[in-house]
Amino acid sequence: MHDLQQLLANNQRWARQRVEDDPHFFKSLSEQQTPEYLWIGCSDSRVPANQIIDLPPGEVFVHRNIANQVVHTDFNCLSVLQFAVDVLKVRHILVVGHYGCSGVRAALQGQRLGISDNWLRHVKDVRHKHIHRLSALPDQTQCVDKLCEYNVVEQVMNVCHSTIVQDAWEAGQSLHIHGWVYSLEDGLVRDLGISIDGPDAIMSRYEYALKRLAD
Ligand code: CO
Repeated sequence: MHDLQQLLANNQRWARQRVEDDPHFFKSLSEQQTPEYLWIGCSDSRVPANQIIDLPPGEVFVHRNIANQVVHTDFNCLSVLQFAVDVLKVRHILVVGHYGCSGVRAALQGQRLGISDNWLRHVKDVRHKHIHRLSALPDQTQCVDKLCEYNVVEQVMNVCHSTIVQDAWEAGQSLHIHGWVYSLEDGLVRDLGISIDGPDAIMSRYEYALKRLAD
């Protein structure tokens, strides 16, 4: 209970500070949100969307799950994607993985965690797709990190091939999809060079990103 009291005290201090900085902060935020970005990231507690890109509340719409997956039958993710694209009209979708991801490691090493093993089956599919390149790496850490990168590239593809994004592009909406990987060790984001702004760019950017990962 003591710990929760601490959280509530933190909240009161935080809210007070926001109002001191800007008396209209909560009033304007409560009336609307107009984020330009949708962040699709891992649930890992060390990878908080807003802090990493240093944006205040109201600037980034967020979906997180274990190992930042975009699965075509996941109505949770699809609902977030649809709301972000069709209602909020975000201009950029950021798929953000992170090195040393426990979910990716579990998928790679075949560890049994529980029900999430079924969820991580999708990461195992990514591993299988790129097994040739992964098996050439000298150690497990490099292998996990490389699979984190491949996983982001494949999830970017899944975003691009969703009916939501396809329809938005078809309607002429400006929408860029990007693939990033965050490093827990230095706090920096690496851009995987797979920014896609329309259906014609999908295959060329995918092949370019895979070539970069193979170098
Ligand atoms: Co993770």
